[in-house]
Amino acid sequence: MDVYKITGEKRLQGTISVSGAKNSAVALIPASILADSPVTLEGLPEISDVLTLQALLEDIGGKVELDGKTMVIDPSEIISMPLPNGNVKKLRASYYLMGAMLGRFKHAAIGLPGGCHLGPRPIDQHIKGFEALGATVTNEHGAIYLRAKELRGAKIYLDVVSVGATINIMLAAVLAKGRTTIENAAKEPEIIDVATLLSNMGAKIKGAGTNIIRIDGVEKLHGTRHTIIPDRIEAGTFMIMAAAAGDGVTIDNVIPFHVEALTSKLREMGVTIVEKDEQIFIPKAENLSAVDVKTLVYPGFPTDLQQPFSVLLTQAVGSSMITDTVYSARFKHIDEIGRMNANARVEGRSAILAGPTQLEAATVRASDLRAGAALVLAGLLADGETEIRDIHHIERGYSSLIEKLQGIGAEISKVNISESASIRE
Ligand code: EPU
Repeated sequence: MDVYKITGEKRLQGTISVSGAKNSAVALIPASILADSPVTLEGLPEISDVLTLQALLEDIGGKVELDGKTMVIDPSEIISMPLPNGNVKKLRASYYLMGAMLGRFKHAAIGLPGGCHLGPRPIDQHIKGFEALGATVTNEHGAIYLRAKELRGAKIYLDVVSVGATINIMLAAVLAKGRTTIENAAKEPEIIDVATLLSNMGAKIKGAGTNIIRIDGVEKLHGTRHTIIPDRIEAGTFMIMAAAAGDGVTIDNVIPFHVEALTSKLREMGVTIVEKDEQIFIPKAENLSAVDVKTLVYPGFPTDLQQPFSVLLTQAVGSSMITDTVYSARFKHIDEIGRMNANARVEGRSAILAGPTQLEAATVRASDLRAGAALVLAGLLADGETEIRDIHHIERGYSSLIEKLQGIGAEISKVNISESASIRE
């Protein structure tokens, strides 16, 4: 089994570069199947979620060439085959194949999606949208069956602001007849990125990035070339690492506007942030102050940074509270950092952390993707050698993390150890 080994207390210095956005990539790839000719996606992150989606597209007849960060998808021979579990279960975003296949073929059968276990993650708003467009949606033996005679534009009000439902409804609506209006839509930059791709394929979409999106259905969509936006969550993870363990770190290929909620929280803690066009420089931060944080939908503080941020809070002076209003149970990392001497506990949907604390190395498990990033940071700060297991969660979403962190001075490596090695307490 592969694990990460980190020798902590090495200060980070230099420039670290951000890859293309995972949560865009996992929507752009399914979106491409709506075209009738090849779509080229550039700047993709090199992560296992991209490989899983490639395999899923190939399963249904797509021709996909992946050369490093560039993927060429020829969707012309894709057929609407049922996609049961297997690869579908490996990631949450396989649900975008529901919207894309429904949009293109007017029917689809997709296994229920997998992804990180963060508490309940229903897809009722996706289904509400598909039904409003004219589809019948049934759950048969753990797979979602979508069937429509035709898709007709509709007005859809989302009861919950959902990234996935907003994108999925856009995917199903671009080839529907007439106008679809999504009200109370999510506003994440990844939604704008998907709308940009679809528009360049010939779709008519207005208002992406606001809470009302209007889509006028078109007859067909064509191939195009698209460069993905930088990953704001990866950028945010590096900013947090720089604040916690840096001696001057430049984060390159970031859109500072996309990470403003984090920037203002870090400034509140006493961290200096220097923004340039596509870079953020964080000098060595000292005497960090405790802060309270509440995660919210964009442009609020992202839930995806809550876990790494809570490790930073172990270094701040005083008591901090971090509340996750998006996912009630995204706190599995708290027990793990507790094993590393963090003074942290969970109360309801909040974590309460007191600092500053010298973290101590331990063998820990990544329960999900961002918990994994949190544990990497804990390992960078800890006294001794930390071992992180279940790193496949981390590799679903962070591109070349080991090499990138080594490049700024971290002592981290991936090693293969025997399956039976026991966890040291
Ligand atoms: N929700 C519903 N019903 C729905 C859909 C969502 O109640 O039909 C609830 C969810 O349970 C959650 C909230 O609405 O409480 C927001 O969920 P959303 O649908 O926005 O999340 P998602 O689309 O499933 C994406 C990202 C997540 C990120 C969230 C929130 C992808 C593939 N995933 O998930 O990313 O945490 O938005 O920003 O884009 C990650 O990258 O680690 C990750 C988990």
